[in-house]
Amino acid sequence: MTTTDLPLLVLGRGADPDAERGVQCSGELPAPSDPDLVERARSAKARLGDSLFVLGHHYQREEVIRFADVTGDSFKLAREAAARPEAAYIVFCGVHFMAESADILTADHQQVVLPDLAAGCSMADMARITQVEDAWDVLTDAGLADVTVPITYMNSSADIKAFCGRNGGAVCTSSNARRALGWAFEQGEKVLFFPDQHLGRNTAVRELGMSLDDCVVYDPRLPDGGLSHEQLRNARMILWRGHCSVHGRFSAECVDDVRARIPGVQVLVHPECTHEVVTRADLIGSTEFIIKTIDSAPAGSAWAVGTELNLVQRLADRHPDKTVVFLDKTVCFCSTMNRIDLPHFVWALENLVDGRVVNRIQVDTDTEHWAKVALDRMLALPGD
Ligand code: 13P
Ligand code: SF4
Repeated sequence: MTTTDLPLLVLGRGADPDAERGVQCSGELPAPSDPDLVERARSAKARLGDSLFVLGHHYQREEVIRFADVTGDSFKLAREAAARPEAAYIVFCGVHFMAESADILTADHQQVVLPDLAAGCSMADMARITQVEDAWDVLTDAGLADVTVPITYMNSSADIKAFCGRNGGAVCTSSNARRALGWAFEQGEKVLFFPDQHLGRNTAVRELGMSLDDCVVYDPRLPDGGLSHEQLRNARMILWRGHCSVHGRFSAECVDDVRARIPGVQVLVHPECTHEVVTRADLIGSTEFIIKTIDSAPAGSAWAVGTELNLVQRLADRHPDKTVVFLDKTVCFCSTMNRIDLPHFVWALENLVDGRVVNRIQVDTDTEHWAKVALDRMLALPGD
């Protein structure tokens, strides 16, 4: 792996809704330099025993993910969240929307903790419920709401998932977007897809055989989304103007460049990358797919991976017999995934040991009900 000697760039998040999430800055956080942090985490976890279940997304730091009971992509973690009803505490090492989904899918007696409330997602923040309701009004005025199915990517707030539940729609993740869209087109003629335009476009064009002309982009900052009624009528996929700032960094030039540098390299990217990148790649899939592909690749094979760096670094370390490089020349972590570090993890666990639940993520009852409807529709989709 050659990324470690490259200059470090950690992306910021743009608009910051932390205030709405009630971000806490605790004065009691252990110092990152504390040499006992690993032992403190181990000991607190042992003391909590079966009352604790730790979930870790693949983009988490190594120092934290080593303590996860289960690691996974957003789909696997959503399913796993519901699989341990005996655990009173679910500590979610991931980002805010994932912890919300875990709260929705777990029983009332289970409490979900996000070790740092500032671990949001810039993509999820690109679609706010009021904007989505405005978009629905635009579709209603155009006479199209009745034939449109709203599908939200998992990377969205609980109130947007609830909106989909109330309006006949569903949630999808990067590992089941094709099946979710297939389902949606059995229910209606059009899909309003948010917040990630790239996942929506890539799935519609690559997996469902649509053309780029079937897709229009709804810009929530423009009046009527910047679209005429005629454009809306002609479209099959109405894509929200949102994207992931981490995956959006990969460009067509990155792909051409790595192919020139490493002969025979295979390019493996996440579907949150732009359509330009995805069409130049050899394989496309969710984080779980990326891991399985590299794990089962033959020794000596070469891979350029377009997804978050913690995961690519981990894959490179795990497979010294293969060449695994980051697709971009510039190092780029997801800054919000990286918020969950060992001091926050230890702080959350030690508080639980002392009987205090800190940074609890709790979705209100009505939102929870309708968001669960949308999540359950996703979980009921047939597997591959
Ligand atoms: P998956 O976990 O579905 O692969 O999504 C990646 C991601 O960006 C999560 O925030
Ligand atoms: Fe959000 Fe992108 Fe980070 Fe995933 S990688 S949490 S989509 S900003």
